[in-house]
Amino acid sequence: MKYELMHRTFPTAVIDISDNYGYISKIESISESAHMPVGVIDGKGIINCNSLNEWWKDRSIPIFRPRIERLLDIFDVMTPEQLSSRCFGLSLSDQYWIRPIGSGLIWEKLNFFKNPFSEDAGNLLLGLKEYHEEFPLNSPDFTTNGNLEKTWKIINGKRYLLKGGNFQEPFNEVIASQLMDQMDISHVPYALTTINSKTYSLCEDFVDQGTELIPAWRILKVKKRRNETSAWQHFVDCCNELGIPGSVEFLDRMIVLDYIIANKDRHYNNFGALRNAVTLEWLGMAPIYDSGSCFYFYDVAVKNLYGGKTPSKPFKNCHEKQIELVKDFSWIDFNCLSHIREIIFETFLSEISAGRIDEKSIKIIVDTLISRIDALQTIAGNQT
Ligand SMILES: Nc1ncnc2c1ncn2[C@@H]1O[C@H](COP(=O)(O)OP(=O)(O)OP(=O)(O)O)[C@@H](O)[C@H]1O
Ligand SMILES: [Mg+2]
Repeated sequence: MKYELMHRTFPTAVIDISDNYGYISKIESISESAHMPVGVIDGKGIINCNSLNEWWKDRSIPIFRPRIERLLDIFDVMTPEQLSSRCFGLSLSDQYWIRPIGSGLIWEKLNFFKNPFSEDAGNLLLGLKEYHEEFPLNSPDFTTNGNLEKTWKIINGKRYLLKGGNFQEPFNEVIASQLMDQMDISHVPYALTTINSKTYSLCEDFVDQGTELIPAWRILKVKKRRNETSAWQHFVDCCNELGIPGSVEFLDRMIVLDYIIANKDRHYNNFGALRNAVTLEWLGMAPIYDSGSCFYFYDVAVKNLYGGKTPSKPFKNCHEKQIELVKDFSWIDFNCLSHIREIIFETFLSEISAGRIDEKSIKIIVDTLISRIDALQTIAGNQT
C-alpha cells in the first residue's frame, strides 16, 4: 500500500509498505530530503530503501518483547512493523508518521503529544488484561522499541513511559537518576510506581510537539567510519558534521556515570541527540535515559565471564578501558556522592521489607559502588 512518509506536517516521501510484512518495499519519490530520517542518505547522496527500512524496523516493538506474540495473534499479522503501520507510525519519541495516499489525515488531529491514545496495547503488553479480540490501535506503544515490557500513559495531561523488567531494573533506573541529580548530569528523572504489586519505573516524555530524539545509531550513519578511526572519535566526528553541540562533554559524563554504576547496556540506542523537528536545528545531546542495566555487582557469573572486569558499551568492551576515553574529570564534585549509601537503601527499602532482595546483596551494591567511586577519584587524580 502507498503511504506518504510525514515529518510532522511535512510530506517527505512517497513509500510502498508491504501489506503482508510491514516493511518498506519501495521509495517512490522524495519531496523533502532534509526532513528524511537522519542517516538514510548514503555517501553518494542516494536514499536507499534498505536503510530506510532499518530505521522503520527499529521504531517497532522488538520481537523479543514479552507478549508481542499475543499482540500479533490478535491482529492476525506477521510482524510488529505491520502494527506500526496500523497506528500510522505515530510516536512519542520523534515526529515521523505515515498516511495512506489520499487519506487527508492531518498531524494536529492525530499526534499523541496532544491527542489521547488507547491504553489497550499497553495493558496487554504488561500482562494487566487479557484480550480476545481486536482493540483500538491508536497507541505510541507500537512505535516504542526496547526489550523490556513498557507502555505509555497519560497522567494529569502529561505523557509518561512506564517500564518493567527484571525485579532490579526499575530500582536501578531510579538510583542512577538520583546519582545523576547529585552529579549535576542532565538526565531523565525516574520514579517508582506499583501496579498489582509489581514495581515499574516511570519517566516523563522528554520530547514534545516540536522536538525529537535522534538515537546515536542514526547519528553514526552520517559518515563512513575509516578503519583507523576509533568508535568514540567516529561518533564525535558525526556529531560535529551534523553540528550537534557538546558531544564530548556529554560523552565524558555518560562514560563516568556508566563506570560508576557498571552499566552493561549503553548501546547506540540508549543515548542520542535532540533536535527541533520544525527548523531541524540541533539542540544538543538528549538527557541520559535507560541506565537500568547496572549494579549487578553480586552477579558472580558475569564477573567470571569477564575475568573480573566490568563489561561496557558502546566504545570499549570493559569500563576499565572505556573510562580512559574521558577528556575531562574536573567537573566531578566527589563530595556530592557521599549520600549514595542512603539513596540505595531507601530505594530498595520496600524490596528488603518484602524479602525480595536481602540486605547482604544491597550492601554488596553499596560497597562496590563506593569502591568504584574511589577508583574513579584515583583515575581522575592521575589525569590532572
Ligand atoms: N522519557 C522518554 N521520552 C521519550 N522517549 C523515550 C523516553 N524513554 C525512552 N524513550 C524511547 O523509548 C525507547 C525504549 O525505552 P528504553 O530504552 O528505556 O527501553 P528498554 O527496554 O530499557 O531498552 P533496551 O532494549 O535498551 O534495554 C528508547 O530507545 C527511546 O527511543
Ligand atoms: Mg533502551
